[in-house]
Amino acid sequence: MGIQTIGVVGCGLMGAGIVETCARAGYRVTVRELDDAILAAGLARVHNSLDRAVQRGKLDADTRSATAGRISGTTRLEDLSGADLVIEAAAENMALKQEIFSQLDRLCPPHTILASNTSSLSVTAMGAATRRPAQVIGLHFFNPVPVMPLLEIVRALLTSDETLAVSQAFGAALGKTTIVAKDTPGFIVNLLLVPFLLDSIRAFESGKATREDIDTGVRLGLGHPMGPLTLADFVGLDTTLFVSDAMYEEFKDPRYAAPPLLRRMVTAGRLGRKSGGGFYDYS
Ligand code: 3HC
Repeated sequence: MGIQTIGVVGCGLMGAGIVETCARAGYRVTVRELDDAILAAGLARVHNSLDRAVQRGKLDADTRSATAGRISGTTRLEDLSGADLVIEAAAENMALKQEIFSQLDRLCPPHTILASNTSSLSVTAMGAATRRPAQVIGLHFFNPVPVMPLLEIVRALLTSDETLAVSQAFGAALGKTTIVAKDTPGFIVNLLLVPFLLDSIRAFESGKATREDIDTGVRLGLGHPMGPLTLADFVGLDTTLFVSDAMYEEFKDPRYAAPPLLRRMVTAGRLGRKSGGGFYDYS
């Protein structure tokens, strides 16, 4: 069956982008956060982004208010029980995600598809926390979600053909190009991105070049929109570290081993753009 209403768990950087993108595509979206203050901050993120789109002339005022009218917030997971598709965008913690999937499985009707935006954890393991593993899938969005044209669909071991087909149609309805990855660490994009980011950090750490020259080299020499150190700051150094640790844990391949500098920066709270500083200063 087709998707009409969406539930989103988590309204952080990725969750807010997913909420906005779904609402702009015409879906009704209910987003759940842990408490009222976090929910208000998450919804403000969505509304600010819609306002910026109006200011840039990408959205007219009527469409903006119709889009905002399709979004509602809650602190109760139960309020997502009417959704045809729930996308989990909570913290990258398997125990937490399995708990969310298990609760959603109990709350949602049998047809509901349960998806995760995880960038590094096993979707098969999330499906195992439910009684509907055939309807569990990975929908991996890219930051900033409203702008990046890709949706990486992760087919877990037990995901059905129908769930995959509905997810591909959903991605197309969002205006995204979809690719299908197997449920292996890093899927497709992070399998390639993470060693590249870690090599760039190693090059900087070992004094091979300045951070600016590493970034300029990649930007102008390879045509990337951002250099790798800027991109690591943009993704978040904690997320970069988390994804590389998860991949190293599975592959035990030194290409995925986090450089000491990255770990120390995260320990020191230099998490990139969101904390005001990472490889660069954003204060
Ligand atoms: N939300 C909504 N729109 C945004 C936005 C945001 N957060 N940030 C930028 N935009 C829009 C701008 O408004 C502008 O729109 P317009 O062209 O329609 O007016 C457009 O994007 C371009 O923005 P700017 O002109 O301000 O700046 P840039 O040209 O430098 O583009 C960028 C910004 C799109 C972020 C670009 O630098 C880029 O593509 N960077 C690479 C991002 C990337 O690689 N993301 C993937 C990260 S990996 C990931 O997410 C996976 C995870 O698992 C780790």
